[in-house]
Amino acid sequence: MKVCVVGSGGREHALAHVLSRSAEVVVTPGNPGIPGSVPTPPEQLDADLFVIGPEAPLVDGLADRLRAAGRLVFGPGADGARLEGSKAWMKELLVAAGVPTAAHGTFTEAGPAYSFLDTMVPPYVVKTDGLAAGKGVLVTDSLDDARSAIDDYLSGSAFGDAGRTVVIEEGMVGPELSVLAVCDGTRAVPLAPAQDFKRIGDGDAGPNTGGMGAYSPVPLVDDQLLGTVMDEFVAPTLAELSRRGIDYRGVLYAGLMLTPTGPRMLEYNVRFGDPETQVVVPRVTSDLAELLAQAAAGHIVDEPTFTDDAMVTVVAAAEGYPAAPRTGDVITGIDAARALDGVTVFCAGVGVSDGQLVTAGGRVLNVCGTGPSIESARARAYEGLARISWPGLTHRGDIAATASA
Ligand code: AMP
Ligand code: GLY
Repeated sequence: MKVCVVGSGGREHALAHVLSRSAEVVVTPGNPGIPGSVPTPPEQLDADLFVIGPEAPLVDGLADRLRAAGRLVFGPGADGARLEGSKAWMKELLVAAGVPTAAHGTFTEAGPAYSFLDTMVPPYVVKTDGLAAGKGVLVTDSLDDARSAIDDYLSGSAFGDAGRTVVIEEGMVGPELSVLAVCDGTRAVPLAPAQDFKRIGDGDAGPNTGGMGAYSPVPLVDDQLLGTVMDEFVAPTLAELSRRGIDYRGVLYAGLMLTPTGPRMLEYNVRFGDPETQVVVPRVTSDLAELLAQAAAGHIVDEPTFTDDAMVTVVAAAEGYPAAPRTGDVITGIDAARALDGVTVFCAGVGVSDGQLVTAGGRVLNVCGTGPSIESARARAYEGLARISWPGLTHRGDIAATASA
């Protein structure tokens, strides 16, 4: 089977790495650190299966265009991708599906938004309706900051058109959980659960990012909890999509918060998580290409299986991320890190300058460790990271720390 992976980050590198166990893989556009990267647009490539990584092309209808050309595609059409493209639509769908989620209001005017905010208690949660690369969510105890965010979002000054509608939510507390479910339109099967670290700083300090690290499995998730997530969150969502005439074939990524009163849906993403994919997909022991092809064809036959070994990834980011990452710094030590037992390095925001690999984005590398326990996987990831450097490299020091304690 020939598989074309669409995208250019660490998620796509991890997907290509695992798919190539059983398939021939090209990645478009990829990046200089991903083997098999080609600049040819997906519409001009020939493959038995297309796997679309990022949300933007999905929201933009790439899956529809490829399907119209007769291709087999893993990834929802623009109709299903709206789940991620519009938080207001997602919330409405969750309510219709009876999925437990935070109370919320949707606004396009500051006055009613302020009034709604005044009825809430901290932490205040203000989100852009549209896509903002994981950065359009403010969680704060300061009413003034929440009001300023509403102004900045609605005026378009913070996130352009993505912020002209805002969603204000009840603030919830608890550990977060990412469950990536592979869907074939009517049936969903879960991949192994993962936990992501969204904030830039140790101890969850500072602004939200796309994700600074992840690990899998998650000790606090047993089969019963995973069953609850599938039966009470993912299945009703897929059924509601289907009721609306949406044939959803791709990943439904459930971002949940485990609150003291039970799991609640934070958000759905319509694609593999980044960096969760880097710790979930390499743990698959069955044929990933076959699973995604079955889902794309509308009929999952075989449920995926996973190794018991744990995996931890630490994101090595550029100085200034998430606000204004510095780029163009020469990266050293990737080969030395890869030479270590149980260490894998996936390339995300990298480019080439004068024949050398340089930083070219906020999240630059994903340094992954695998081992029989989360503790050993974590130690390996940080050992690998210690061999890598460029001026201004930043990373969290506490990825998977509590899970391995
Ligand atoms: P989202 O993009 O909606 O998943 O939000 C990004 C991050 O913001 C989540 O992973 C949470 O850490 C946080 N967050 C979002 N919604 C809420 C909420 N209602 N209460 C508390 N934290 C939230
Ligand atoms: N890791 C969060 C995301 O992929 O949106």
